[in-house]
Amino acid sequence: MTASTEIDFEIHPSAARVPDAERERILQAPGFGQVFTDHMITLRWDTERGWHDGKLEPYGPFTLDPATAVFHYAQEFFEGLKAYKQGSGSVVMFRPQANAARFNSSARRMAMPELPEAAFVHALELLVSHDRDWIPTGEGKSLYLRPFIIATQRGLGVNAPSSSYLLCVIASPAAAYFGASKSVRVWLSEDYTRAAPGGTGAVKCGGNYAAAFVAQRQAVEKGCDQVVWLDAAEHQWIEEMGGMNIYFVYGSGSSARIVTPALTGSLLPGITRDSLLKAAPALGIPAAEGRISVSEWRDGCASGEITETFACGTAAVITPIGSVDGPSGGWTIGTGDPGPVTMRLREELIGIQYGHKPDPFGWIHKVA
Ligand code: PLP
Ligand code: COI
Repeated sequence: MTASTEIDFEIHPSAARVPDAERERILQAPGFGQVFTDHMITLRWDTERGWHDGKLEPYGPFTLDPATAVFHYAQEFFEGLKAYKQGSGSVVMFRPQANAARFNSSARRMAMPELPEAAFVHALELLVSHDRDWIPTGEGKSLYLRPFIIATQRGLGVNAPSSSYLLCVIASPAAAYFGASKSVRVWLSEDYTRAAPGGTGAVKCGGNYAAAFVAQRQAVEKGCDQVVWLDAAEHQWIEEMGGMNIYFVYGSGSSARIVTPALTGSLLPGITRDSLLKAAPALGIPAAEGRISVSEWRDGCASGEITETFACGTAAVITPIGSVDGPSGGWTIGTGDPGPVTMRLREELIGIQYGHKPDPFGWIHKVA
């Protein structure tokens, strides 16, 4: 299905595609974000012409002046979503319109131009259909799509946003971000803050991730896989993780329910998070947004009220969290192993994405 758009893209196919045998070898074990497909999308914007010069072209480097705004003031942001090859042979994307809408809310916060949602989806469709042979098949494999936009004005002034931008979409065959579905160990970051009220936490701008590396390195030094970010003011309320949102499972069996931190403006409105708020109730698991403190999490695990905790995101899908550590000590969640509610929701989400389960919400967008 091709979305209608007023923005045209010229097609410049690559004359030097990766040979079939080499591509097939790569697709056996693609890792995450290591290898890129034959093509990319580029589209430019400036104050005089608006969006123009759309292209599908061979994947390759940019040449940019050292004084380009993005290098200095980080006016940029990105998106992330996946395309799947379903068992039927169909090529699909998961909720691309939701990414288009989030792209535009990011653009507003970053004083950058919005793009018609149909054009965003059309650009993704073009890239996925030209590089469909790059979509790996098999458990947990997909084509990760990374749209991003950078400020390209030359000059070091900071009085106004850039007057020109480059939007690009690249694609990377991907295996599951955390390997199989083993539990991860998380670190409560008290020394650092990811995002504050009024800041850019709800935007996928590179600066949020740049500011997080030092805490991620600390987490790894403490034997953990990921950082859990707390609110900036009190360092007490759970917000999210480095590249994924978080859910708490209360109760078990037919009385299980899930809760995720409410969108305060300092955490990312994840599309996986939103999908679970809708899909879990359809499975008989009530889902709500709430406010959970570190002590409620710790005490809830000790009393058995909180039975499981998991992370969710495009790259992470649904990843069980087995244990927590932090400057004031740590604890185990449930048995420390992936729990049944987490695995049930994971199976449902993956089932919808790969077409093994019905798609009652209309989230699957067919490309070919
Ligand atoms: N939180 C952060 C900081 C992220 O980078 C991501 C990844 O995109 C998410 C949450 C999960 O969002 P989504 O489910 O839209 O991938
Ligand atoms: C995604 O899941 O799309 C993300 O952005 C996570 C990424 C930062 C690895």
